[in-house]
Amino acid sequence: MSSMQLSSLQRSALLLLALLCGALTPAGGLSFSYPTFRDNIDEKDFIKSEYSRIYFSAIQITPDLSNVASIVNQSGRFLYKKPFKLWGKGKGGVRSRALFNSTFVLNITPKTDPGGEGLAFILTGSPTLPEKSQGEWLGIVNASSNGSAQANIVAVEFDTKKSYLEDVDDNHVGLDVNSVYSIQQVPLLSYGVTLSSQMNYTVTIRYDSQNITIFVSQTNETREEMKNIPVLSRTLDLSEYLSQKVYVGFSASTSNSTQLNCIRSWDFHSSHIDENSNLLWVWITVPAVVVFVTGVSVYLFWTRQDEEEDAHLQIDEEIQTNSTAPKKFKLKELQRATGRFNPKNKLGKGGFGTVYKGLLGNKEIAVKRVSKDSHQGKQEFIAEVTTIGSLRHKNLVKLIGWCYERHELLIVYEFMPNGSLDRFVFWDDKLGMEKEEPTLSWERRHSIILGVAQALDYLHNGCEKRVLHRDIKASNIMLDSDFIARLGDFGLARTIQQSGLTHHSTKEIAGTPGYMAPETFLTGRATVETDVYAFGVLVLEVVCGRRPSNQNEQNNYNNSIVYWLWDLYSRGRILDAVDSRLDGDIDEDDMACVLVLGLSCCHPNPHLRPSMRTVLKVLTREADPPALPTERPAFVWPAMPPSFKEDTEFDLAGGQITPFTDLTGR
Ligand SMILES: *[C@@H]1O[C@H](CO)[C@@H](O)[C@H](O)[C@H]1NC(C)=O
Ligand SMILES: *[C@@H]1O[C@H](CO)[C@@H](O)[C@H](O)[C@H]1NC(C)=O
Ligand SMILES: *[C@@H]1O[C@H](CO)[C@@H](O)[C@H](O)[C@H]1NC(C)=O
Ligand SMILES: *[C@@H]1O[C@H](CO)[C@@H](O)[C@H](O)[C@H]1NC(C)=O
Ligand SMILES: *[C@@H]1O[C@H](CO)[C@@H](O)[C@H](O)[C@H]1NC(C)=O
Ligand SMILES: *[C@@H]1O[C@H](CO)[C@@H](O)[C@H](O)[C@H]1NC(C)=O
Ligand SMILES: *[C@@H]1O[C@H](CO)[C@@H](O)[C@H](O)[C@H]1NC(C)=O
Ligand SMILES: *[C@@H]1O[C@H](CO)[C@@H](O)[C@H](O)[C@H]1NC(C)=O
Repeated sequence: MSSMQLSSLQRSALLLLALLCGALTPAGGLSFSYPTFRDNIDEKDFIKSEYSRIYFSAIQITPDLSNVASIVNQSGRFLYKKPFKLWGKGKGGVRSRALFNSTFVLNITPKTDPGGEGLAFILTGSPTLPEKSQGEWLGIVNASSNGSAQANIVAVEFDTKKSYLEDVDDNHVGLDVNSVYSIQQVPLLSYGVTLSSQMNYTVTIRYDSQNITIFVSQTNETREEMKNIPVLSRTLDLSEYLSQKVYVGFSASTSNSTQLNCIRSWDFHSSHIDENSNLLWVWITVPAVVVFVTGVSVYLFWTRQDEEEDAHLQIDEEIQTNSTAPKKFKLKELQRATGRFNPKNKLGKGGFGTVYKGLLGNKEIAVKRVSKDSHQGKQEFIAEVTTIGSLRHKNLVKLIGWCYERHELLIVYEFMPNGSLDRFVFWDDKLGMEKEEPTLSWERRHSIILGVAQALDYLHNGCEKRVLHRDIKASNIMLDSDFIARLGDFGLARTIQQSGLTHHSTKEIAGTPGYMAPETFLTGRATVETDVYAFGVLVLEVVCGRRPSNQNEQNNYNNSIVYWLWDLYSRGRILDAVDSRLDGDIDEDDMACVLVLGLSCCHPNPHLRPSMRTVLKVLTREADPPALPTERPAFVWPAMPPSFKEDTEFDLAGGQITPFTDLTGR
């Protein structure tokens, strides 16, 4: 261990010292200024809800994605990461209150006519976005916290939809205290402001410890007199409703009516407050701590620490400093939860390790115990836990936490009561199955396919960094209690497995035979198109109830579900392939459409496979499946590029999110 690194003991001592010194000075104000927001750089300064992001130099409080389904019924919060001291107990028990100023530029782009619902500037003691705060709740409160002091929130709302009788109109500013019902609201039209006009508006909010005053004007406004007309001013003792330390930032929401809720620039300044404290004890304690810290440092300088501890600390740090990080568990907790990894609690086994069922409190969890492999695995482990940990989607298995202790790498997921999809779909191997699972109806199968497609579209197009799953297959699709498909195990299997190898040869390609695109064997690379291929195979097996490859299969199966199906397709008999257990539960048109879609995802030429975005459109019947040649084309490498671009979304080079608006638009 290098002498530069501090032990946790030293750290605590230094922290204590810092705190003590802090007590000597008045509580400092908070001050920051963002003339613009830098994508991928500034996000770390904020506490944000799952889908809030910085895109195109602006805070997008609710998502700005071209996938319409992902902007409906959303709410979000975006708060500065450090709270500020709003009030404190001053001399003689009299409260002292901070003053503050904040100026920001908001821009609202409606996506439906009319748009909805609105955004708000908020001060709150509880930074977490309340569940079900979308729609009329503006991300401020939800049905249970509305009107309760526990909400601990004061908001200045910019409402673009009249959601209640009490709302004056669909273009007003309102002052909200622990509720979405405003104690005062002012229509903005007479101030020349139409919030949802896509114009930039500059808002200033001033609090002088007694009155809160709000100014709104067009950002290009040059006339001073127009900028200085207060739209709303009201006497309000914030210390009555809010905790001493509060977070400052924004919330917003959409409903069936949608809009993009952006903040383009923001500055904030609060004054320090004078606090009463008896400082005598500080004068006695500080020197003692200084002596102690020095002593410990000298001692440690001469002592070598266990390298194990050191590596351990780094893993903790790298994962924990990520704000959206999953929880870190103690080995003991997880041992208790799983009955010391009792074989009775075993749920399954993969190449990477074993999965156990566990109970944390009364919450069921699944704990993956990664096979012991200390050397190369750690970096990948960190990368995986932080990437997966920051992904949130209703069709992804949620990562709850992790543990790294005494060479144990453990990953905690939410428990999926219905296990994995493979238990339900394959009729051709009931062997080894403890009990016969019920047949999934066509409706359920369709919704499972749609769910996986949404998850994959999110990974490919909807999240900050593109994620390739690399191992789509039935056993990696979990089913929750409502049989909603949840994609699990992404990337991890491959990462951990690879670390166990002594050499990295191209033969050790990640993935599962039968689901791997033909080009994988030549390039050895995972791409968006190889994920689409595996998804295609999954679609075929879910509709047909057969494994992707099975040597025992008769009827020209040729050890490949793709060959077999394409053969049936060229003979115009594609519906023969449908799982016979679906008798009587048949929507032939829909099934044929899904099968053709599945086959087109398995096109030998990767350039001719549809994107997940197109797949989604076909599944929701907004588009027809891509045209498919009757004969299965031979696999040719290098693949021919598409001769012409029919579909602008056939953008294979573009790896980025496709936002609604282009760069110049905003
Ligand atoms: C959005 O919420 C509304 C009201 O709760 C509901 O009627 C609607 O179905 C939801 N839309 C979607 C796409 O979830
Ligand atoms: C707020 O802004 C006003 C006017 O610019 C200024 O006088 C005041 O000092 C500011 N207050 C704080 C706390 O920064
Ligand atoms: C409101 O939010 C809280 C905190 O997220 C949550 O516990 C509660 O269930 C939510 N209430 C409703 C009605 O959704
Ligand atoms: C929200 O809370 C306010 C009190 O602040 C109350 O008047 C109103 O009825 C509540 N609204 C709903 C929908 O519960
Ligand atoms: C709003 O501001 C942005 C950046 O400051 C600018 O690019 C855009 O043109 C402005 N929009 C309008 C409608 O003025
Ligand atoms: C706050 O507003 C009230 C009423 O408008 C006014 O009398 C008072 O002077 C204001 N306080 C400050 C500090 O400006
Ligand atoms: C600001 O820009 C809008 C739209 O471009 C225009 O209609 C308005 O007159 C401008 N205002 C000023 C004060 O220049
Ligand atoms: C929202 O849209 C869904 C379907 O698109 C519809 O069923 C629902 O009634 C709508 N809800 C509201 C509150 O408008």
